[in-house]
Amino acid sequence: MQLNVGIITISDRASQGKYDDLGGPALKEAVAGYQWTLGGDTLVADEKRDIQRAIREMIRQGCNLVLTTGGTGVAVRDVTPEAVREIAERELPGFGEVMRMESMKITPNAILSRSLAVAVDQALVICLPGKPKGAVECLDFVVGAIPHCVEVLQEVPTSC
Ligand code: MTE
Repeated sequence: MQLNVGIITISDRASQGKYDDLGGPALKEAVAGYQWTLGGDTLVADEKRDIQRAIREMIRQGCNLVLTTGGTGVAVRDVTPEAVREIAERELPGFGEVMRMESMKITPNAILSRSLAVAVDQALVICLPGKPKGAVECLDFVVGAIPHCVEVLQEVPTSC
């Protein structure tokens, strides 16, 4: 299964240039390590509309896997799960469950992450924590299920 990956960093401060985006580059390195293709990357503010637009744009450009980093926590501006659920066809709760379970072995703050995965059209969208280390770790915890999941989502429905 050839994975064409879109990476979206979701951060008010990084999108305003107040600090460097470290999450996007960390995920890019992980994507290269898994030998997936990078289909595009972008940086948006913690705004539901911007997040939804960026995801749709990545999918329109041909990405079958979209990784977001940031906005999964408990701060008022953390709206990634809400934005993503609004455009999701269905949620895949196992991803969030495993990410939190495994991350709890690393940091007690992992309980604060509302990381999730959903299907949007025929693409898999995985929302990872904002901390670069956390994003890469969480991706690693669920990587085993990604190719099969994307393969099933990409299947053309057969008419009976
Ligand atoms: N998960 C892993 N594996 N490693 C981490 O360092 N950081 C946590 C958590 N999940 C972390 C992690 C922290 S500090 C927070 S606040 C939450 O993810 C939410 O992050 P976000 O609001 O930046 O998305």
